Amino acid sequence: LKSRKNVQLKKYNSLGVEALAAKMLFIQSEKDLLGIEELINPDRLFILGEGTNTLFSKDFEGSIVKVEIRGLEYKNVDENRCLATIGAGENWHQFVTDSLDKGLQGLENLSLIPGSVGAAPIQNIGAYGVEVSELIDFVEGYNLVDGRFEKFNRADCGFRYRSSMFKEQRRDQFIISRVGFSLNRNWSDLEASYKSLSTYLDQNGIKNPSPLQLSKAVVQIRKSKLPDPNKIGNAGSFFKNPVVNLKKFEELKKRFPGIPGFETEPGKVKLFAAWLIEQSGWKGKDLGKVGVHQDQALVLVNKGGAKGIEIYELSQKLKADIRKNFDILLEEEVRIL
Ligand code: FAD
Ligand code: EPU
Repeated sequence: LKSRKNVQLKKYNSLGVEALAAKMLFIQSEKDLLGIEELINPDRLFILGEGTNTLFSKDFEGSIVKVEIRGLEYKNVDENRCLATIGAGENWHQFVTDSLDKGLQGLENLSLIPGSVGAAPIQNIGAYGVEVSELIDFVEGYNLVDGRFEKFNRADCGFRYRSSMFKEQRRDQFIISRVGFSLNRNWSDLEASYKSLSTYLDQNGIKNPSPLQLSKAVVQIRKSKLPDPNKIGNAGSFFKNPVVNLKKFEELKKRFPGIPGFETEPGKVKLFAAWLIEQSGWKGKDLGKVGVHQDQALVLVNKGGAKGIEIYELSQKLKADIRKNFDILLEEEVRIL
């Protein structure tokens, strides 16, 4: 098991902030996990993938367990389904691309989401009308509380919008080592109803897109509004989109007639945090080293040399303003340490 002390985390987080980790353990196989609970203090532990949804607001005094388990296997289940089993340390978008190249359907809408495979179930990554939980067959990993491997079927993972039991009850206690995905060998209806996606397809004259065409469309749309973390530090959406009850939505509509929202279940309306932030005058705000992205108001950026704490402080100002203007409490999507 590889480990290092006093590690600079700048290259391990897509916001590109500096912070030191007292200790870092690099997990390259399931074997490295056995007995790991004896090497770490479970109260001061953080499990890290590629750091694209993590904000280090200060130095980390404990151990960081970086998951680098590799490997990808496909196994046909029947004439319609294929089970892909993949190591948590593989890169998400490379997996998406590989599965599409093999003619498998399912992951196309989730193209170009940064990060590792092992982090995908944590917040149930989603984009363009699809959530990863729809494709997951199982999640396997190491339970730090009782030192053993466990395997969960999709139904037992507690998946919800941007959440799962791994993010809630089992936070920092379960190291995901491998994930199984159930993919389609044949396909008919793809999910292309998300507004910006259907508009893009219409404008480009694409009628019945193939999974590969859909993936390419998603990549183009994402590139047009989300900053590339290799060029400008960011962690994607900083907050989740808030869900309010219908009564609250009707009240807001009286005050803000143009407010967008859609019913996710009877009586519940999902609003767009980016809209709330933009209406509050923050979109494109340049505050020196930190700012709010000019093409997507939900993305906070490190324009170079910002400290984690400065990004955190900006996020709290936004949150206070949204509370004041709309009486809505935004919830962070990014994991803040
Ligand atoms: P990390 O930041 O390393 O970790 C995130 C969380 O997962 C932490 O709590 C960590 O402890 C936990 N974790 C990581 N690996 C493991 C493991 N093996 N076992 C247990 N816990 C683990 N997200 C979306 O849902 N949809 C999007 O469209 C989207 N777009 C983005 C665009 C940009 C430009 C960026 C920078 C981010 C975007 N994100 C999006 C967020 C991010 O891509 C996802 O959250 C991704 O899954 C994070 O992967 P990671 O490996 O970098 O996770
Ligand atoms: N909008 C604004 N101002 C902006 C941006 C958006 O008013 O600057 C409004 C518009 O009304 C627009 C709507 O918000 O129609 C939706 O915008 P967009 O399609 O960009 O999506 P989002 O709701 O801001 C969510 C996810 C993204 C995901 C996209 C596409 C959350 C928190 N974010 O963003 O995920 O890629 O949808 O499905 O749910 C992430 O989680 O890190 C992430 C980037």
